[in-house]
Amino acid sequence: MGRHIHVIGIGAGDPDYLTVQAIEALNTTQVFFAMDKGEQKSDLVALRRQICERFISEPGYRFVELPDPKRSSDGDYRDAVSDWHAERARIWAAAIAAELGPDGVGAFLAWGDPSLYDSTLRILDAIETDVAEVGFTFDVIPGVTAIQALTARHRIPLNEVGEPVLITTGRQLRAQGLSGSAVVMLDADCSFAACPAGTRIWWGAYLGTRDELLVAGTVGEVGPRIVALRAEARARHGWIMDTYLLRAP
Ligand SMILES: C[S@@+](CC[C@H](N)C(=O)[O-])C[C@H]1O[C@@H](n2cnc3c(N)ncnc32)[C@H](O)[C@@H]1O
Repeated sequence: MGRHIHVIGIGAGDPDYLTVQAIEALNTTQVFFAMDKGEQKSDLVALRRQICERFISEPGYRFVELPDPKRSSDGDYRDAVSDWHAERARIWAAAIAAELGPDGVGAFLAWGDPSLYDSTLRILDAIETDVAEVGFTFDVIPGVTAIQALTARHRIPLNEVGEPVLITTGRQLRAQGLSGSAVVMLDADCSFAACPAGTRIWWGAYLGTRDELLVAGTVGEVGPRIVALRAEARARHGWIMDTYLLRAP
């Protein structure tokens, strides 16, 4: 059989987002590999442990924490990310080899869905090609993304009839502006504030959790309120995750 890894999408916040497929994969896992993200995001690490406690019926599993190498802030952004991924690949390969027996089953729990702004699949791919001596197979269990959580909680369709939707970051929105509809993720800077006042926004933070915040309106009407709410919530929790959908006027 050989070593096997599940990459399990656990949904973006609410443990009830877990799919039946995810629960089945959790129950066949012996070793959960988790990135140590530092104290700030300890709420998120705790949620992963709660998910295991709640959904695994015969708890014989263990957690192995993997150190997260520091990402360089000097030089080109893409080079820095690529060096960081290579370093992570080395750490993960060593852990898979050391912690999983020849037929062992491991898992990475990916926030939301593993295909969306998540490096787990890229790193496993790099290990398969670059660190070939650590033989393993892996499969992917899809999860509910922050985008689905956002549109469900606002009760809105993602796209306008027959129209495309861009999924982008705050950095790209600032560089390229908005046309049509766009979902913005990974935005620490409230980049929507640079959009025309008539732009419609549906904003959500801590989606699926008891701290969830939702605001909708136009950037002119609700933009300043979102900026203030976001700063206050971030200060109170020590971290924030927010996502929003924009439609150009
Ligand atoms: C590294 S990405 C991971 C996305 C994840 N793989 C997914 O499927 O949603 C993290 C970004 O996702 C968004 N996000 C994730 N969970 C969220 C939540 N519960 N509420 C609001 N935004 C969230 C935020 O934009 C955050 O900056």
